Amino acid sequence: MAIAAQKLVAFLSSQLQGNLEQSVAMVLQVAAAEARSGRDKTAEDLRRLAQQLREAGSCQDDLDDGPIPIARPKGPLASLVSVEYPAARLSQMVLAIEVSRKLKRVIRQQVERAKLREFGKLPSRKLLLSGPPGSGKTMTAAAMAGELRLPLFSVRLDAVVSRYMGETASHLRLIFDQIRHTRGVYLFDEFDALGADRGIGNDVAEARRILSSFLQFMEETNSTDSLVVCATNFANLLDTALPRRFDEFIAYGLPDEAATKKLVSKHLGHFRPKKIEWLKVLPHTSGLSHGEIVQAVDDAIKDAILDDKTTACSRDLIKALMARRSSQQDLEVVGRS
Ligand SMILES: Nc1ncnc2c1ncn2[C@@H]1O[C@H](COP(=O)(O)OP(=O)(O)OP(=O)(O)O)[C@@H](O)[C@H]1O
Ligand SMILES: [Mg+2]
Repeated sequence: MAIAAQKLVAFLSSQLQGNLEQSVAMVLQVAAAEARSGRDKTAEDLRRLAQQLREAGSCQDDLDDGPIPIARPKGPLASLVSVEYPAARLSQMVLAIEVSRKLKRVIRQQVERAKLREFGKLPSRKLLLSGPPGSGKTMTAAAMAGELRLPLFSVRLDAVVSRYMGETASHLRLIFDQIRHTRGVYLFDEFDALGADRGIGNDVAEARRILSSFLQFMEETNSTDSLVVCATNFANLLDTALPRRFDEFIAYGLPDEAATKKLVSKHLGHFRPKKIEWLKVLPHTSGLSHGEIVQAVDDAIKDAILDDKTTACSRDLIKALMARRSSQQDLEVVGRS
């Protein structure tokens, strides 16, 4: 009975946190246990209810008072930009204090932009994010869109940069017209590719022209207060004067020990054991990015689910972290060969 009560408590808390997938997973876990005990009818009923719960949840997502979906980009824009409405929030992220402070300031300015305009001031609208892979740059753009309830437009830079003279600039023109007319978060991921040699031969002059037309477009008035987010792994490749063209330059890094603990605990959710043996677990996380740690925690949770366990213990975490590290090393070897 105590176990049933524990399960009910865990289920209700995950429902209250709005974590649909976790709730569904819990019901399916109980269904599996029932099936193993030979109670097939109850197992079947639970599976059906889990399915209904999932369907009801996705309908609710559609009905939420979120932004009204706008028409997808059409014509030539459709191949340059993709659109989505992310549900991500900054609270789901583990961020350095300074990064979080800057992002919250941008959100506040965006939310209260009418007040700023009354005093002739503009909200921050141009962000440059730099940092190693998996540190949360793309997720930040999604979370900003989620917080502001705006669509996230991801610009496909490989499609924007053309080998034909002048075509890149006309692509950029189309995108910046959209930025002016349709308020949203516009993500230029791998922004360094814009000014670098990409399908345009080794024409340094052309690369410079592309970057400078981009910067010019960015200076234009943007009466919709769209947010332009540029992300790069290689801030050092960018012109040193570049960060000054943005309202905020935000540097991301690998998580320190405190951030790693927070990330692991947050991501484990109700699969978190009562006690994590941090002294044993932490050494296996050093040098791993947020993204890699999250993936390892996910692996540990999946193992726990398949082993019919209600928590992922420190040993499961270490095993998953070691596996991640070795696949990372394999990738490095492939990259070198
Ligand atoms: N700061 C963070 N807090 C919580 N989760 C994170 C964070 N950073 C990354 N993650 C997790 O890692 C995944 C990958 O991160 P993301 O794609 O945002 O990294 P990135 O910095 O854009 O990497 P890249 O340079 O390779 O594009 C995210 O979807 C999320 O699950
Ligand atoms: Mg990214």
